[in-house]
Amino acid sequence: MSADRSLRELMSLDGRVALVTGGAGHIGRAIGHALAELGANLAVIDISASGCAEATAELSQRWPIAAAGFDCDLEHSEGVGDLPRRVRERFGRIGHHRQLRGAGWNERPRGLVGPIRAAV
Ligand SMILES: NC(=O)c1ccc[n+]([C@@H]2O[C@H](COP(=O)([O-])OP(=O)(O)OC[C@H]3O[C@@H](n4cnc5c(N)ncnc54)[C@H](O)[C@@H]3O)[C@@H](O)[C@H]2O)c1
Repeated sequence: MSADRSLRELMSLDGRVALVTGGAGHIGRAIGHALAELGANLAVIDISASGCAEATAELSQRWPIAAAGFDCDLEHSEGVGDLPRRVRERFGRIGHHRQLRGAGWNERPRGLVGPIRAAV
């Protein structure tokens, strides 16, 4: 650990943009809160538009960050391919990405990983 910077500074995500896929779900919301507590702005990505709206309202009420919802079916590549543009239009940049859809014990991560990694 650097002696010049505090732990808070080392952990800070101030000014970064985090994408949380499955962001309206249980784990997605918990991760969203953790990233928001560290200062990240949040792109909440989920198939459920109402879930996105609920999650972003919850996050932006609790933390001094910007949160925006992006409804998208991660099983369909057209929508996934358009996400980087949508997120950049809203936030101007993409920082962190957390994939919480299709990350179960018996599932392989799917959907957003390729296009978004390519877009970071
Ligand atoms: N909760 C646990 O204890 C636990 C433990 C191990 C693994 N997991 C795995 O972690 C992942 C998330 O778990 P969770 O408890 O948050 O689940 P959840 O059902 O609460 O959340 C999943 C979210 O993904 C969204 N979603 C589903 N299909 C989608 C699609 N095609 N495109 C975009 N969004 C879609 C849903 O609308 C939902 O908001 C799951 O894959 C789950 O199997 C969960």
